[in-house]
Amino acid sequence: MAHKWWQKAVVYQIYPMSFQDSNNDGIGDLPGITQRLDYLHQLGVDVLWLNPIYKSPNQDNGYDIADYRTINPQYGTMADFEELLAATHQRGMKLLMDLVVNHTSDQHAWFQESRKSKDNRYADYYIWRDPVDGHEPNNWRSAFSGPAWTYVPERGQYYLHLFAPGQPDLNWENPEVREAVFNIERFWLDKGVDGFRMDVINLISKPAGLPDVAGTPTAGTTLDFVADGPRLNEFLRQMNDEVLSHYDVMTVGEMPGSTPEDAIKYTGLDSHELNMVFQFQHVNLSPNPDVRLGKWNDQPVKLPELKVALNRWQKALDGKGWNSLYWNNHDQPRAVSRFGNDDPKYRVLAAKMLGTTLHMMQGTPYVYEGEELGMTNAHFTRIDQYEDLESLNIYREMVKQRKLVDGPTMLKYLANMSRDNARTPMQWDAGKNAGFTAGTPWYRLNTNYPEINVDAALKDQTSVFYHYQKLIKLRHQSDLIQYGTFEELDPLDEQVYAYRRHYQGQTLLVMSNFTDQVVQRDSGQQKADELLISNYPDDQGTTLRPYESKVYLFK
Ligand code: GLC
Ligand code: CA
Repeated sequence: MAHKWWQKAVVYQIYPMSFQDSNNDGIGDLPGITQRLDYLHQLGVDVLWLNPIYKSPNQDNGYDIADYRTINPQYGTMADFEELLAATHQRGMKLLMDLVVNHTSDQHAWFQESRKSKDNRYADYYIWRDPVDGHEPNNWRSAFSGPAWTYVPERGQYYLHLFAPGQPDLNWENPEVREAVFNIERFWLDKGVDGFRMDVINLISKPAGLPDVAGTPTAGTTLDFVADGPRLNEFLRQMNDEVLSHYDVMTVGEMPGSTPEDAIKYTGLDSHELNMVFQFQHVNLSPNPDVRLGKWNDQPVKLPELKVALNRWQKALDGKGWNSLYWNNHDQPRAVSRFGNDDPKYRVLAAKMLGTTLHMMQGTPYVYEGEELGMTNAHFTRIDQYEDLESLNIYREMVKQRKLVDGPTMLKYLANMSRDNARTPMQWDAGKNAGFTAGTPWYRLNTNYPEINVDAALKDQTSVFYHYQKLIKLRHQSDLIQYGTFEELDPLDEQVYAYRRHYQGQTLLVMSNFTDQVVQRDSGQQKADELLISNYPDDQGTTLRPYESKVYLFK
């Protein structure tokens, strides 16, 4: 297969609400992004992905869309969007929209009609079921706590929502729904956007008959049960035939619970559905041993487990599919805090080490806003510092209602895993509100912004920013980094993550020390032709200092 543009690309994810405010209302916006394009261009990224910017009541910060063709006024106007798109293209970058079509907002006109009766034009746009013995139609749980069903007296029925009650699931079995989604895609593609990140796209086809999940379901087991439904392939293929194949675009499908086998099925290099998926195996490591608590835990990830997760995808997709590479996004805690070390003594080293470990793999790397600065978790200690409905609901459910953990313990879990860690405003400078807004920010800032910010990073040649810039440049220049096959080394090593890449007779050796210890490792690096990148000023051969990471080239 001929190589595609997105196989050479590095993507930068922007959380518009928290990126840059331009009109002092405390909320990031589209003109704010436009103002910062030169910064992103300087970093060297090729593609920008915007989290949802459509009209939305923001119960789930835009993942509840009330109108797919209107820009949320808090972000600006359609003219602002068109200006941002043109300015992005002028700089040779591309732009992806977030497409959230497993569900809409309950404020969407389709749902407002659908809920009124069983025989209106939109009656069948959502998944409605009669009560069973006066109860929910099945035992599925919502990803954001509580049952996955809500009763509507007007219809005398329940509707399905795998996420919040304000996020009713669309009925993809209805051909009119599919056509409506395809028209939304055409609307944005005709404006010139370069593709889509598709939200929880592997949930759109539900298991026939909507049977119970075995045992006592949790949010996690419900999603696993629903994922990868019987008609998913068919729906994605139809989308590709009717829409995507008519444009030169990039698509990445968010697929919780997907395996490499699923990914090959949906993104195979010779298949015609999506280009790549976001898998979750590495970010779902170290769950709570009490399954009822799901991901809520405060334990670090063990390095051999991390390698199993990432190496498996590297090996399985080689030559068959294409990986997306990420540590961070708006749903994950900050990588340097979770997988590295955010102690000021090690933060910069660890952030660079993580960047190197990921960016030297095969796939398309994604950088989440602030990751290129080594932004850290927020280390909140009180529940009123949280904002996200997932965190607030889980605290209420586990501490107040079910009393499975005490408050202080749950706060530790939130500090480690909450999505809010990723959503504090971008840190631009050491001034008021980190330069994010001159008004009152919609969400509190991380208190470390006087030290960790763009301004400081750009003035310091040894900053995380310049390390990421170099990683991106290396990828752009090297077929070996883009396409080389992956060879794992020492999977059981608990301290060092090492691997090789091979392409047309050349070899790359990557060695990353994930600990604050000095260790000795010999993977033949002394015979290398070149040290391509490292996070220390000198090379001490077989010695790896705390969080040291080095990449060698063998010609
Ligand atoms: C995806 C999004 C997340 C959202 C959920 C429901 O996982 O990334 O932010 O809450 O879908 O739309
Ligand atoms: Ca604003």
